[in-house]
Amino acid sequence: MQNNNGQTDTLQTTKVEPHIGIEEHQRAEIVDGLQRFLANTYTLHLKTLNYHWHVKGMHFQTLHNFFEELYTDLNESMDEIAERVLQLGFKAPGNLRAMQELSNIKAGNEHASADQMLSDLLNDYQWMIRSMRQWRAMADEAGDAATVAMFDDRLTVFEKQAWMMRAMQS
Ligand SMILES: [Fe+2]
Repeated sequence: MQNNNGQTDTLQTTKVEPHIGIEEHQRAEIVDGLQRFLANTYTLHLKTLNYHWHVKGMHFQTLHNFFEELYTDLNESMDEIAERVLQLGFKAPGNLRAMQELSNIKAGNEHASADQMLSDLLNDYQWMIRSMRQWRAMADEAGDAATVAMFDDRLTVFEKQAWMMRAMQS
């Protein structure tokens, strides 16, 4: 779903443009990253819930609780990401179709083993970390300190969680 500028339809400005010292084309580039970040967070939230529900085996309790920590964190982060998009003068993706179009995270397999679930999520988290670094760089280049700070906070959480996932693998 793209408009004439090659941007997704969810990239629509509000009537009153923000005058916050960041050019519109830069805001649009930052927002593209934020929208992808939001959509992937949303998809990952559903995937970690799925794994929380369906994980099996000797380590059920540990992983059931760990996946709950992950989905709780992802859920709590989404409002802030979406509202940053609004602050930059654009709309946040707010329906399943937009979320799916902007997301790269693949659906989880609830029949997978506990080990497979863990390594699947580790791949997703590390992909998110690498992507966040790129999205953050765009914001940094534009002097968008608020978005950079948000990515810094999210990177700190994601890198710790990815480390824990690596440490849990024998
Ligand atoms: Fe639960």
